[in-house]
Amino acid sequence: MSDSIGRRFEYLRLSLTEVCNFRCTYCLPEGYKKPCNLPNELSVEEVRRAVTAFAQLGLWKVRLTGGEPTLRRDFEDVVRTVSQVPGIHKVAMTTNGYRLAQRAKAWRDCGVSAINISVDSLDPARFSAITGHDRLAEVMRGIDAAEAAGFESIKLNAVLMRGVNDDELETMVEFVAARDLSLRFIEVMRTNDNASFFDERHVAGQSVIDRLEAVGWQRLPREVGAGPAVEFGHPEAKGRIGIIAPYSKDFCASCNRLRLSSDGKLHLCLFGDGGFDLRPLLAEDSETDLAERIRTLVGAKAPAHRLHEGNSGATPHLASIGG
Ligand code: GTP
Ligand code: 5AD
Ligand code: SF4
Repeated sequence: MSDSIGRRFEYLRLSLTEVCNFRCTYCLPEGYKKPCNLPNELSVEEVRRAVTAFAQLGLWKVRLTGGEPTLRRDFEDVVRTVSQVPGIHKVAMTTNGYRLAQRAKAWRDCGVSAINISVDSLDPARFSAITGHDRLAEVMRGIDAAEAAGFESIKLNAVLMRGVNDDELETMVEFVAARDLSLRFIEVMRTNDNASFFDERHVAGQSVIDRLEAVGWQRLPREVGAGPAVEFGHPEAKGRIGIIAPYSKDFCASCNRLRLSSDGKLHLCLFGDGGFDLRPLLAEDSETDLAERIRTLVGAKAPAHRLHEGNSGATPHLASIGG
């Protein structure tokens, strides 16, 4: 399925919950606040119908995200269900890693093939200051467990923040140089809730690229169907580095993903409008109508976000629609 400017969509980011147990300074600094009406999360059956419709439209990869997706008690049921939808060839997940050490093997066994883990600092005190939880050692054990569980791909995500962790770039690079992992540095993105934090802490992706190139990292050719990261390799390093720089020129030109929020709203962009409610169609067990509705909506996807103008669309924080 393509949009009006020819971008092909192969990848669905499915948020399972907006609830998170961490309180990262750039995302949920005061922790997840329960609204009066807690969003009504999609049931496993609704997830199955939604994913079936997206698969009919040619999407073959699903990333389970949130909030923290593993807070759903039925997380493993969801994984099994999504993996069995005809046409879905890859189930990935993004986690803050808090249960990874115990569950990595179980998640791999029930169908997750790729895992992305947030690690914003390798220093325990800083990790705790950024996330609100003193759990770095556990997350690091989780990374070891993920390596032992045999995922096809493991990626670490670090949001670089000026004066908080930007001096750790070299230490983090050394860490992945020795392991078969990919580490992505993510530019802080402005959302409706973090404007002043963004102004103070944003580090431009290009400055990170300059620092990497200065120590011999080289840009790798873009792979077909690749995600938002620009990738770098080093002749002496096992791992890879990616830069996710949404403020860079033409970032949106290669967008290949759609998003479904935990309460069934289709978001055409991370920084778009409030989303299109697909729930009524999920209740009817009519995946073909659903697929046609999605196709029509996707035709109207905007060419690019307007973050450069300070416009974050309707997004209060990324936990609300699944990063
Ligand atoms: P893979 O390519 O499948 O590894 O996915 P990914 O890198 O998109 O997955 P992950 O969940 O680790 O995403 C990391 C972060 O990148 C997200 O939380 C966002 O902060 C950012 N990101 C991902 N997709 C987009 C996008 O479409 N637009 C923008 N602006 N940022 C994105
Ligand atoms: N800017 C950049 N990245 C963010 N994430 C959450 N909020 C933001 C933001 N405002 C990232 C986290 C995590 C991923 C799921 O989303 O760092 O790695
Ligand atoms: Fe939770 Fe992820 Fe937001 Fe951190 S970035 S508060 S782990 S949703």
